[in-house]
Amino acid sequence: MSTALENERCPQPHERPDLWPWSAKFEGGQLWLGGRPATQLVEDFGSPVYVLDESDLAGRATVWATVMAEEFWDGYGMGGGSAYYAAKAMMSARVIEIVTAAGMGVDTASLGELTTALRAGADPDMIGLHGNNKSDEELRLAISAGERGIARIVIDSPDEVGRVAQIASELGRKARVMIRVTTGVHAGGHQFIATAHEDQKFGLSLANGTAKRVALDIQNYDSLDFVGVHSHIGSQIRDLDAFFESASRLLGLVKDLSNEGVACREVDLGGGYAITYTGADPEPASPKEIARALAGAVRAACEELDLQVPHVSIEPGRSTVGPTTVTLYKVGTVKEVPLEGMSRLYVSIDGGMSDNIRPALYEANYTALLANREGSSALVNARVVGKHCESGDIVVHDLALPADIKRGDILAVPATGAYGHAMSSNYNMLTRPGTLGVGAGEPHWIVYPEKLDHLLARDAFLDANN
Ligand code: LLP
Repeated sequence: MSTALENERCPQPHERPDLWPWSAKFEGGQLWLGGRPATQLVEDFGSPVYVLDESDLAGRATVWATVMAEEFWDGYGMGGGSAYYAAKAMMSARVIEIVTAAGMGVDTASLGELTTALRAGADPDMIGLHGNNKSDEELRLAISAGERGIARIVIDSPDEVGRVAQIASELGRKARVMIRVTTGVHAGGHQFIATAHEDQKFGLSLANGTAKRVALDIQNYDSLDFVGVHSHIGSQIRDLDAFFESASRLLGLVKDLSNEGVACREVDLGGGYAITYTGADPEPASPKEIARALAGAVRAACEELDLQVPHVSIEPGRSTVGPTTVTLYKVGTVKEVPLEGMSRLYVSIDGGMSDNIRPALYEANYTALLANREGSSALVNARVVGKHCESGDIVVHDLALPADIKRGDILAVPATGAYGHAMSSNYNMLTRPGTLGVGAGEPHWIVYPEKLDHLLARDAFLDANN
């Protein structure tokens, strides 16, 4: 059946550098990552595999740390700037090592993330802890780390103030705290990843006065040191106006508090900067453009409020690690499904929703490139699907692929560094892929691939010996 080609093919690295890690190139009929051909990576390390370009990550982290320091430099009459890597996007010791060496801090959100950050050598003075339901154990670790505890525990509800104060006082410490404010600004790609509108579990409302009340309450405790205010408005946000609006509302609160004699040393504007996932996405603003625009907005708001510009930090996760990683899959079953007026080629790969849940969870779009050869110039409408027992197990919804794609080929899905490994699962008892570091010396594991034995060993009723 011949049908009109409706789908777009995946841009190669030279066509859309923003979609790929900096070392990616298509040469000699195949994709190269960190100086290695995709075929060799799959042959040596298996598939599926997340391939993370470490030099790309180091570059992006350096850029974020530098532009924040530069645009908010106090020499410009500002209060300094910094960038915390939101480690939920991809947590591993190597990633922490790279981003902190580049000058970023680390934003954590659980005992596991905080422990990994500390054990990977991140400076407690550059670590934050978030969470709407922090455990005593998490708070204790945060308060006792290093010489004076981590840089900021971000208080998310009124009852947390007393809890943090109590634990800090038991530990004989002064805990540095911020408050997470819901500014009412709602932005981002999908309802579930938008976090600053009112009816949700995160933060303290600005509109109904809770945020201010909690900030004032913090002043009642000797064991608490009030650092300032925080807001995270969502994720995969392209419209910088949303950040400006949120920043201006936050600074309004800073002014309000200052009128009450409460100083905010720092304002954190959260993460959420968009990246490119497919050829249809516009190129996102660069960190430089973002930092400059934020600095302009913060300066203008402070001038209007007659406020000294505080230290400004942000927490980019996706935009630090997302584009660094490409998932390599092997093609298995290829099936043509005739539909009314068209047909679709279903291309099954050896992973799926267990290594990338985002299409199923958020209707996120990805693209995929035939990575081991040029392929025929004739293209067909295709859909890349996983091997799970679920029809929603789709990795790439609509895509043009070479008509001769076949079992054994390698497909490369770019931009899987953020929330890929981080949200992977063992659905259908699939083992989670490892993350392979390339681009800095020999390819090496950053996260080992899981083995079936790891999974079987957790089953309390399986005899380990049979
Ligand atoms: N700071 C806070 C307080 C956050 O909650 C988040 C993300 C970030 C920073 C980092 O945001 P980013 O720069 O990565 O957009 N699993 C979803 C994203 C959830 C984001 C949750 N919070 C996804 O796969 O799209």
